[in-house]
Amino acid sequence: MEARWLALAKLGKTLRTTDQYAVLGNPISHSKSPIIHTAFAKQTQQNINYESVLAPLDRFEATVRDLMAQDYKGANVTVPFKFEAFKLSNTISAAAKSAGAVNTLMFQAGQIHGHNTDGIGLVSDIQHHTNHALEGSRVLVLGAGGASQGVLLPLLNARTASVVIANRTLEKAQEMVEKSGYSDRVRASTFANLSGEFDIVINATSTGLTNTALPISDAIFANNSLAYEMMYGKETPFMAQARANGAHVMDGLGMLVEQAAEAFFIWRGVRPNTAPVMAMIRGL
Ligand code: ATR
Repeated sequence: MEARWLALAKLGKTLRTTDQYAVLGNPISHSKSPIIHTAFAKQTQQNINYESVLAPLDRFEATVRDLMAQDYKGANVTVPFKFEAFKLSNTISAAAKSAGAVNTLMFQAGQIHGHNTDGIGLVSDIQHHTNHALEGSRVLVLGAGGASQGVLLPLLNARTASVVIANRTLEKAQEMVEKSGYSDRVRASTFANLSGEFDIVINATSTGLTNTALPISDAIFANNSLAYEMMYGKETPFMAQARANGAHVMDGLGMLVEQAAEAFFIWRGVRPNTAPVMAMIRGL
């Protein structure tokens, strides 16, 4: 009897010390976040469990509250809930405020703290996995949707010399410039009116999904430029054009792993080594 009680007590302790996390989205089955966070936890010897949760489209808040009631410590948020997560958060980090979206939730004493690690993920990937310096660079961001909005402030904080936002709908790029508060370093453009060349060109449009080429001139790629496609998983027309113009081309897999590392750091206070996890995901 006593042995059984001891075993139960031990089990209870083990369960209590395993902190629970999840990624919420709809759809969610494709998400690589559980594999990434499980690899981080193993590498850093953090006792966590991380799973994917399909939140019904009309029950995001209820799903979050349910996780909190079960003592989950945090969650990542993906399409289409990043804006709802923003609205639900009791506190909002500077990056999330600028992005207008939240991709990382931390639950503490009944409060929801909202962060956004997407932009810092992009910056970290460029800083740690390329020889291209962001500091002093001329950056072109293609697109003015959610993905673009999420990376603007981290790009400015990385002391880039200038950021041009080019978009099919010019007004959206102009709105981003106005909201950024950095009109000295950020400028809006159409694709047709782009002039000069850029050290770093980032495709933040969704054109990769539809295999659409962007109407951008070959002349925008500076010598030894970096072309960054925020999507991953296939060669997009943007990547092909950049490659043909001698740019060093990267896809968004590094950003995915780096944004996860930043979320892991927010939750656990430990920074995982991303390179082996990137290699593992590429090999899947
Ligand atoms: P995301 O969250 O992926 O950023 P989004 O907010 O819908 O998605 O933004 C999509 C971006 O891709 C926008 O900048 C969009 O341009 P518009 O603002 O003019 O709509 C851009 N985009 C989508 N399809 C495009 C196309 N065929 N050519 C050029 N830009 C395109």
